[in-house]
Amino acid sequence: MSRTSAELTERFGSPLYVYDLDRLREAREQLRAALPPQFTLFYSLKANPHPELARALGEGEGACRAEVSSAGELGAALQAGFPAAEILYTGPGKTTEELHTALGHGVRQFSVESLTDLRRVGRAAETYGVVADCLLRVNNETAAASTSIRMTGTSSQFGIDGETLAGLVPDLLSVPHTRVVGAHFFPLSNSRDEQSLIAEFQQSIATAARLRDELGLPMRFLDIGGGFAAPYATPGSRPGYEKLRHELESALDLHFPGWRDGGVEIACESGRYLVGGCGELHTTVTNIKESRGRKFVILDAGINTFGGMAGLGRLLPLSVHVDGADPDAERETASLVGPLCTPGDVLGRNVDVPGLTEGDVLTVPNAGAYGVTASLLHFLSRPAPAEVVVSGGEVVAASRLQFVRTSLPDHPGRPE
Ligand SMILES: Cc1ncc(COP(=O)(O)O)c(C=O)c1O
Repeated sequence: MSRTSAELTERFGSPLYVYDLDRLREAREQLRAALPPQFTLFYSLKANPHPELARALGEGEGACRAEVSSAGELGAALQAGFPAAEILYTGPGKTTEELHTALGHGVRQFSVESLTDLRRVGRAAETYGVVADCLLRVNNETAAASTSIRMTGTSSQFGIDGETLAGLVPDLLSVPHTRVVGAHFFPLSNSRDEQSLIAEFQQSIATAARLRDELGLPMRFLDIGGGFAAPYATPGSRPGYEKLRHELESALDLHFPGWRDGGVEIACESGRYLVGGCGELHTTVTNIKESRGRKFVILDAGINTFGGMAGLGRLLPLSVHVDGADPDAERETASLVGPLCTPGDVLGRNVDVPGLTEGDVLTVPNAGAYGVTASLLHFLSRPAPAEVVVSGGEVVAASRLQFVRTSLPDHPGRPE
């Protein structure tokens, strides 16, 4: 992204996300290199459902398949050109309506999180006269790693508790219009620690083998999830995971001989690792004020633009750079806040910034994942930020999400 942030915001407005597809392809190459070449790699659209990013990930060498968790993400994946039959539909709260939408579009692979979820998939599949291939998402009894965002080894809405599976197998294997084809694990997110990641994958692989051997669960497809880390709103690079490929191969050779020749399909999933580094957020200083000895820099981007995740404590600390700022100029500490009428609208506290003035454009690095759509986008009814996609230094797409209130067919009510 050689253009300055000021040039870009002048052309497309502020706040502005810029995604660089060259960087995105680099991230995919890096992740592919860390994994055995036979692996299927799913792009999890929850990280960023922008169709142009998804399209770039679904094309070319190392192409990903799409993992979606809503009809909206499905629409984005289809728009991006992913064949429906290869899309994996996941999530703990699938409704009958969305299952109909998915099946109607030709989706045939689902991860199910309970027997009731599986039965719901079966009933929907019956309507379409098809059989849905289902992965059983498993919530392991114990967690191998202790770091990162945990989703297993605890009580959770995700997955079927491992210890209950034995009693459930007869029911799970006899739901009409479904075929259990394997297992799905997603035990943790954002693990920079390679050893934790490896331990978790080893545990998932061993558990899958045990489910196959002891319970007779089919295991043609094994999705061992992800947990690949990426910096978020701070400078830095993605971890390389030097040992991962070898450790995965060893664990699979041990538990799934024949996997190298396609005897079982092995998959991983990633959102943030693939898209986090390709995006930057440009935001303009609209006002600066002091209050009781503290400096507040008010930006046109708040938690409505970046940082729905801030509410989960995942955003801070954030870091910004300012094009053309004098490197020798004095720096100061300020709170970077957004335009919303809530004290919660804070992008960063005690952020080290150069002396700023109104109109300065700040750049938040590594903002390609969990940005726009993970934010409180419509809070205070401000417009969504513009999103620009760049490839080979050229702008290839520029768009903005729009919110439109529409009357429901049964209740036309007042015209909007
Ligand atoms: C089932 C599942 N797959 C994929 C992801 C994407 O995670 P990440 O963006 O950390 O790669 C998540 C995130 O929570 C998830 O729950």
